[in-house]
Amino acid sequence: MYTSFDNTSLVKIVTLLKSHKSEYLSGQDLSDSLMLSRAAVWKHVKKLQSLGYKIDSKPKSGYKLIKTTDLLLPWEISEDLQTKFLGKRIYYFDTLDSTQNFAIELASKKIESGTLVISEKQTHGRGRLDRKWISPSGGIWLSLILHPEFEISVSTLFPLITSLALAIAIEKILKIKPKLKWPNDVTVGDKKVAGILIDASIESGKIDYLVLGIGINFKINPIEIEKMIKHTANYYGVTTLLKKNENMNPIKLVQRFLLELEKLYQLSLKKDLKHIMQEWTKRSSTIGKSISIKLPDEKLSGKALRIDDDGALVISNKGKTRRVIVGDIG
Ligand code: BTN
Repeated sequence: MYTSFDNTSLVKIVTLLKSHKSEYLSGQDLSDSLMLSRAAVWKHVKKLQSLGYKIDSKPKSGYKLIKTTDLLLPWEISEDLQTKFLGKRIYYFDTLDSTQNFAIELASKKIESGTLVISEKQTHGRGRLDRKWISPSGGIWLSLILHPEFEISVSTLFPLITSLALAIAIEKILKIKPKLKWPNDVTVGDKKVAGILIDASIESGKIDYLVLGIGINFKINPIEIEKMIKHTANYYGVTTLLKKNENMNPIKLVQRFLLELEKLYQLSLKKDLKHIMQEWTKRSSTIGKSISIKLPDEKLSGKALRIDDDGALVISNKGKTRRVIVGDIG
């Protein structure tokens, strides 16, 4: 595990190499500035190379950073992160059962609001309604802890603001225009590219914490995942943001998502919901369509009319309107 708050020698070496990008830094200089032996510097450089940094080493000149890593390392996310509180404290893993489970454990210890847990892969990723979430490396699997200062009723907005923030970040960083499928799927070409899971703990009628779990198929092999989940309920195809031959560092997308989410979160605290509803509806593939929706105990068909101020979907069904809070659109 790495964190954003342990300023280790590893991080100090990366920072020094980044600030001397066009020249070699001698092993002696590094060891003097960090008060480490040259052997220790060499060990750290090896570690950084194993983390995906391309570092050239020349016997007489020293070390030079050629290319940074594509891993979602905490100090890389923290660098240039524009948010005020989201993602200020980061726990990073190469492999975890589920970032959601780890975040829930932290949240119950009252860890600070905005804390981010991220893993390159998950062995037991969780989806909505107790489904499995296949999480190989190449995806972005993260959970955010919030200790919100508002009533439970507002928490139903979180699926909407989280999916909207993600859609906006994808548009800005990747120039792809995703759609939003109620309540919180992000789709591209009518296939799922990201999903959101929200766990909440409520104590004496107030929200103690929310854990937002976000799974983004950044650069994965959709065919492999499709094979594994084709027969599960509500399957409608899986896709990926980057194709096999496309390359891009995922850090910018994570940073932008955190920033957009923080902006929408502030708006929702001010109960400024008009903008959120308009922007969500603009990207929606649900509103205005005839849909059939599976509720916990029945199936409903009708026209999706709009999203209510609390995030519920309003459907016209046999001349009546119905508000739906939880369900799967077929
Ligand atoms: C869905 O079913 O659409 C929601 C999927 C949510 C997956 C994410 S990946 C990060 C976090 N950790 C988990 O175990 N699940 C969520």
